[in-house]
Amino acid sequence: MNSTGRSISIFGLGYVGSVMSACFAHKGHRVIGVDVNPMKVEMLNSGHSPIVEAQVEELVAEAHQACRLHATADVEAAVRETEISFVCVGTPSQSNGKLDLTHIEHVSHEIGRALKAKNDRHWVVIRSTILPGTTESVVLPHLQAASGKRPGKDFVVVYNPEFMREGTAVADFFEPPYTVLGAQNPEHLSRVRELYQWTPSRIFETSISVAEMVKYASNAFHAVKVSFANELGTLAKRLGVDAQQMAEIFTSDTRLNISPAYLNPGFAFGGSCLPKDVRALSYRARELDLKLPLLESLMPSNQEHIERAIEIVLRTRRKKIGLLGLSFKAGTDDLRESPQVQVVKRLLGEGCQIQIWDPHVALGRLAGANRQYIEEVIPHIGSLLRLDMNEVLQAAEVVLIGTRAARKELVEAGLRPGQKVLDLVNLEKDRRPSLESSYEGICW
Ligand SMILES: NC(=O)c1ccc[n+]([C@@H]2O[C@H](COP(=O)([O-])OP(=O)(O)OC[C@H]3O[C@@H](n4cnc5c(N)ncnc54)[C@H](O)[C@@H]3O)[C@@H](O)[C@H]2O)c1
Repeated sequence: MNSTGRSISIFGLGYVGSVMSACFAHKGHRVIGVDVNPMKVEMLNSGHSPIVEAQVEELVAEAHQACRLHATADVEAAVRETEISFVCVGTPSQSNGKLDLTHIEHVSHEIGRALKAKNDRHWVVIRSTILPGTTESVVLPHLQAASGKRPGKDFVVVYNPEFMREGTAVADFFEPPYTVLGAQNPEHLSRVRELYQWTPSRIFETSISVAEMVKYASNAFHAVKVSFANELGTLAKRLGVDAQQMAEIFTSDTRLNISPAYLNPGFAFGGSCLPKDVRALSYRARELDLKLPLLESLMPSNQEHIERAIEIVLRTRRKKIGLLGLSFKAGTDDLRESPQVQVVKRLLGEGCQIQIWDPHVALGRLAGANRQYIEEVIPHIGSLLRLDMNEVLQAAEVVLIGTRAARKELVEAGLRPGQKVLDLVNLEKDRRPSLESSYEGICW
């Protein structure tokens, strides 16, 4: 055994567990694989990979020969003989889509029972994909109840999502997109951090629930990307457009397309382009009898987000509303399809009294389609606009931040205790008014 090697047990010898066992053994650690399936245990013990996956058979054979890898069904021995247990059991869907936690519950209970007989501190690192909150509400209580030991002292729980893809799992293990370590206390990560010293990718240390959610965000985004590419390709093909060339040019933009742009939680999209173009594309697809549900879902999804803002305001049961920012983004006076305008229209309909400040919107200067739009949607808009932000803040019971143009010190100076502040645009933390108790973000 390598002198720096740790002793590790890996629960669940499926795709994730087998790859991890082989790769950690290759890195010089002493690995004990644990599975309830005797066939998998037997295969690993005879030097063979329990799964078909590039390079795993060779790595398992190498580790077997070096006596760094064996398997067992004996949970107590595996926990006793190792410092760290990785949990890689399956978390399948139930028939209704609900996440099935049977294996997670069972393995947590089993590891907990084994911990009863152990005096040294033990690390339990969850790698299975589980919904946010599950580690702390399911895994930890099972471990604690079955062991009678103190979490954070006698044993430590870490969440460390896995991002490998079948087919390239070994390469992905050695070069992951990132490594995410979630713990209740950063001190709990010491032993696990060490195990990933070799990784060329960035290591993020965060809370358990953020680590759990990052895994779902990643997979949901991958699913969105696949469906988006397929729907756009389908439409292009039907229109006689070269879909491949379209995709190549589209993905070459790493500023707006393949980038963090538009991926921060914030307010609904609006303006004179996005809604109109999404609608035109969906309509054209329908004309061609194409079903493109992802494209079709964009306008309803956006509308739901606007409704959420209105709901939050109405739930306060306060009627005096101050809105900072009327146009769909700072730096423009374009009011066409501004979601903020929709919020105003709806709240007026609910009997709210609204005052609006927007440094870029002066009714006298609005012209053409822009002026026509706002006069149709809110005919008396002129009587709601104020030049002085302070006047708006003073009169409001609920303040909606709908623009990044409002300077923090001016907002703070005008706010009173007891007012509710709803941030629609996700101001940077250091730009948010510091009346924390009344601040709420629409989706953060
Ligand atoms: N397959 C992937 O590419 C991949 C990638 C990232 C994350 N994940 C996630 O990792 C987890 C495991 O996925 P997988 O594809 O390796 O699953 P899998 O079904 O291939 O393997 C799970 C293994 O766990 C074993 N097991 C069940 N209960 C056990 C227990 N109590 N003790 C010991 N072993 C037990 C099973 O016998 C099986 O061998 C899932 O949550 C999955 O969502 C999978």
